[in-house]
Amino acid sequence: MSIRLSSGEEIPIEMHKTRMVQKIRLVPVEERLRAMEEAGYNTFLLKTKDIFLDMLTDSGVNAMSDNQFAGMMNADDAYAGSMTFYEFAKAVEDVLGYKHVMNAHQGRAAEHLIAKVFAKPGGVVPTNYHFTTTKAHIELQGMQVLEIYYDDALKTESTNLFKGNMDPNKLKNIVKKYGRDKIGFVRMEATTNLIGGQPFSMKNFREIRQICNENQLLMVLDGSLLCENAYLVMQREKGYENKTVAEIVKEMCSVPDIYYMSGRKNTSVRGGMIATNNEKLFEQIKPWLPVYEGFITYGGMSMREIGAMAVGVREMVDPGVAGCSVEQIKYFVNRLSKAGIPVVTPPGGLACHLDAMKFLPHVPQSQYPAGALAAALYITSGIRTMERGTVSMDRDKDGKDVFADVELTRIAVPRRVYTVSHIDYAIDRIQWLYKHRSTVKGLKFVSEPPLLRFFFGKLAALDNWGANLRDAYKKEMGNA
Ligand code: F0G
Repeated sequence: MSIRLSSGEEIPIEMHKTRMVQKIRLVPVEERLRAMEEAGYNTFLLKTKDIFLDMLTDSGVNAMSDNQFAGMMNADDAYAGSMTFYEFAKAVEDVLGYKHVMNAHQGRAAEHLIAKVFAKPGGVVPTNYHFTTTKAHIELQGMQVLEIYYDDALKTESTNLFKGNMDPNKLKNIVKKYGRDKIGFVRMEATTNLIGGQPFSMKNFREIRQICNENQLLMVLDGSLLCENAYLVMQREKGYENKTVAEIVKEMCSVPDIYYMSGRKNTSVRGGMIATNNEKLFEQIKPWLPVYEGFITYGGMSMREIGAMAVGVREMVDPGVAGCSVEQIKYFVNRLSKAGIPVVTPPGGLACHLDAMKFLPHVPQSQYPAGALAAALYITSGIRTMERGTVSMDRDKDGKDVFADVELTRIAVPRRVYTVSHIDYAIDRIQWLYKHRSTVKGLKFVSEPPLLRFFFGKLAALDNWGANLRDAYKKEMGNA
């Protein structure tokens, strides 16, 4: 939520109070450089003891509510038939409108099952944009991911309020080109992660549904960031301004054939789910659940997490929950944008994204500007962010880098975790870094795994720029 001050300024306002805290530490810049070098200039390999603000992700690190903790304590542990699962299933039916649901240990486990069951080897999966793990699972099943966003979706600075929309004409052309038998499914992702947390509109979602109907295509919704998309529809789409987030979420969920989500984001727990109203589709997936995840009433999750998730599903449509990170991101992005920092606009969900190619125009894509910027920001501030650019793309079969469409450094805003003063600190240090951006150079790989290399790959700073940045920082700001 946001609130208007008497000065007219609008600020994000927390619709909760803090009743349990975790101490954090800002280690000196000397130690930050040492930690970054040990981590091979890969923020995934940092240890939390060296991190001040952990803005790597909004996944599995959100603050749970008091009622979610109570849900954990009350959970009914049973291998089969746990009443906690039935409470969860009832919450899914009440909030999302689905009669059939199964858990999976997290979002990518749901993707694995869906890609496996609906695979058309040699076929394609059109999507508004891929997510890393989704792409990996689809390709492992012998299918190709086709991204069919509108042409301006990758323009980082934009006034398009729905950059997550799928281009219906491109979908029609794919149907013509490949034929419907070669289309595994059509995938829409809410608050499209890798293009900067950008929503799709209900109008677009329905248009895509219509094309799926006309061609008997299976439609799958990745709702990992469902509620942020609904909150942004409420704020931005004509006809939805007087609807509640809960109403928009329900309407959105009535569109696809199959819904899945990572529960680590909107429901603030550690798990995932697949849901549908189509019994036949449900029965196709169900036999595989015990093979890969677990029995139907736990699906690889602990009952305690399912207890917290049952509460989380009901709470996630509260505007104070659905809008908490959206409003903080809006504040974050607008302030940086005003200061002339290249940042993805309009503000969306999940994170504030820096456009690394504009921030570091002297670093070519072959030297991974988004990775260099994430490392530089950590050295400057102790804030951990995530590379979402070429490092997050795997090499092609000839071993060549595949340059990402956009080079983003993602500063995630976990739900209900950080305050506006933390965000003010981040804004200040990003501005400092922008002034000293010429000190930051590129990176090169030192060791690199063959798949999802961004997780474990190690890199090094070209021309030892990490030490130069540390020295520049120390000179002006001291050791803090
Ligand atoms: N789909 C989307 C849109 C996601 O953002 C994620 C995870 C997944 C699927 C996979 O879910 O992690 O529970 O297995 N996104 C995290 C992130 C990892 O940091 O953005 P998972």
